[in-house]
Amino acid sequence: MKFLYIGGTNERQEVKQMILEEAHRFFDTVLFAPLKKIRIDCVNGKNKLTFKGTDLTSFDACYARFFSKDLMFGEIVLDLLNESDVFVPLTPEAFQITNHKYFTVKVLSRENIPVPTSSLALTPQTAIDMNHKIGYPVVIKLLSGFGGKGVMLANSENEFKPVLDTLKIFREFISTQEFIKSDNYDIRCMVFGEEVFGIKRIAPEGEWRTNVSKGGKAELVELSSAMKEDALKISAILGLGVCAVDFMEREGKYKLIEVNFAPGFMIDFFGTKFSNILIKYLYKKSKELRLKNKF
Ligand SMILES: Nc1ncnc2c1ncn2[C@@H]1O[C@H](COP(=O)(O)OP(=O)(O)O)[C@@H](O)[C@H]1O
Ligand SMILES: [Mg+2]
Repeated sequence: MKFLYIGGTNERQEVKQMILEEAHRFFDTVLFAPLKKIRIDCVNGKNKLTFKGTDLTSFDACYARFFSKDLMFGEIVLDLLNESDVFVPLTPEAFQITNHKYFTVKVLSRENIPVPTSSLALTPQTAIDMNHKIGYPVVIKLLSGFGGKGVMLANSENEFKPVLDTLKIFREFISTQEFIKSDNYDIRCMVFGEEVFGIKRIAPEGEWRTNVSKGGKAELVELSSAMKEDALKISAILGLGVCAVDFMEREGKYKLIEVNFAPGFMIDFFGTKFSNILIKYLYKKSKELRLKNKF
């Protein structure tokens, strides 16, 4: 069995190392191909996806760890892999939707997933006019921000205005959201096929962002059956075999914050746990697919 790992830009070396080591324990052949060295050609009407002359569609399983910057190139790579017999738990459509925080909210709200009141605007004045529905405090997000970088909080219109002016200078879209006041934690559901693991991410003292890269802590928790079902429903709607679905809770209810298509494995807290689960899942699914294709 052959495993392909495509690393996007921004890749953390420790994560890459861990996934590759784990892959060697299960697969006979393991190849690492950095996205920037991959070639895509269409010759005589035939599309080819290669890395140093190796046909990347000849593998059994592929884990593509892409980031927002990789969208334009990565979606073609994913499209070609999805058309082939390679098992890949990410589709180009899922990449597009989850790479765009507002698009995610839009798609999932339609399917009755609870989401925060959210808005998308192009100009500061429209954003201010629209914000009467949300009120203050309001969360402002860069659409493809990550790691807690790109989320901001404004407690009043006076605080909101300079943020809007700054977004305008950088030609950013204005994506806003109701602030869900929790006890500075959120619940991350790590989904691997049918398996879901709950993680409570606790923000450090004085911080409202729960990202561990911002100094937060993480611990495993038992998920409520409703949250677990919603996480599985979201992964099914989006067609994501592997993802992290983040919810914030308040007064016994929860709302979706975002869906991550390339979640971190929080190595400092869980070591190799999630890279092991990931590889086991990819091995099982690719074996099943291989058997299915034989008959
Ligand atoms: N609507 C919100 N209400 C309260 N906190 C929020 C809200 N949206 C985001 N946050 C906090 O900010 C963090 C980062 O926001 P998120 O949308 O997940 O972006 P990122 O991709 O940077 O992780 C979240 O983990 C959460 O702690
Ligand atoms: Mg997040």
